[in-house]
Amino acid sequence: MTRRVEFACAKINFGLEILGKRPDGYHEIRSILCRISLHDTITFAPSHSEVDILSISGNDPEVAMEDNLVVLALNAMRVAGACIPPQQVNLEKCIPAASGLGGASSNAAATLRAFAPELERAGVAPVTVGSSLGSDVPFFLNGAVCLASGRGERLIQLPEPPQGRWIILATPSIAIPAKTASMYAAVSPEWWSSGDAVETAAQQFPEAPATPPRNTFERALLRRFPDLRAMRESMIAAGAPFVALTGAGPTFYTMSPSERAARQIANHLTSTDMTVRVARLWNCSGAPA
Ligand code: C5P
Repeated sequence: MTRRVEFACAKINFGLEILGKRPDGYHEIRSILCRISLHDTITFAPSHSEVDILSISGNDPEVAMEDNLVVLALNAMRVAGACIPPQQVNLEKCIPAASGLGGASSNAAATLRAFAPELERAGVAPVTVGSSLGSDVPFFLNGAVCLASGRGERLIQLPEPPQGRWIILATPSIAIPAKTASMYAAVSPEWWSSGDAVETAAQQFPEAPATPPRNTFERALLRRFPDLRAMRESMIAAGAPFVALTGAGPTFYTMSPSERAARQIANHLTSTDMTVRVARLWNCSGAPA
């Protein structure tokens, strides 16, 4: 078996509405998910050991280790019937962990893609294993831009906006234990909405509206961490045309039509309390730059 290399890109949520709580404990959502060029790189090779061995390099590897889904995905494929020998895995992390950018889910999807032939031989659809690993995993097995509903796993592919939209990401240096579950729990039912704002925005693609629809998590995040208001304001002061939250946070982002303008905004954001990155929407053709 040969060495396999997969790119695992991050995503942003262009709006996220929570409609209500379902009988299974998950929340019904509407969100537009867009892949972006920020990515991890995962290399798989047969292991000389009897177990999978994972090494992590790149930024905050110790945080990434905690919620890593690569080994869970390998095991889930084996349980589903795929014949996969022990792997030596190198995960080069660039996507900050538990930041709202979908890094762990994307790692899981990339692992499923790497072993697609083994899954096919076992007669198992990657998305079946993917949905059991997390609500965002099916998106990373799907298109570049999607309208998500259900718990996030029901997807309608949207026409991709023209390339050249640049994204400035600001990730505050805070750790939120059990982040996704605790952020859903922090949303008051009074803030639930119909989903119409996100669905209306989705209808406008590929001409994405200049400003994303609301993200219901933003209110909950700012109530839990009021200090983040200052970070949000510093983005506006740096020239951001809007500031939006991705996923359950805590990464905020803005967009810019040109790389130059994006880097100008990024260069103005010098606080040590956050890490700033510049990326672009990624149309999935070729390797992310
Ligand atoms: O699907 P995932 O494993 O990412 O979800 C983590 C947790 O977030 C779930 O156990 C659930 O508590 C919460 N969640 C939710 N509604 C969703 C997605 C996640 O309540 N649509």
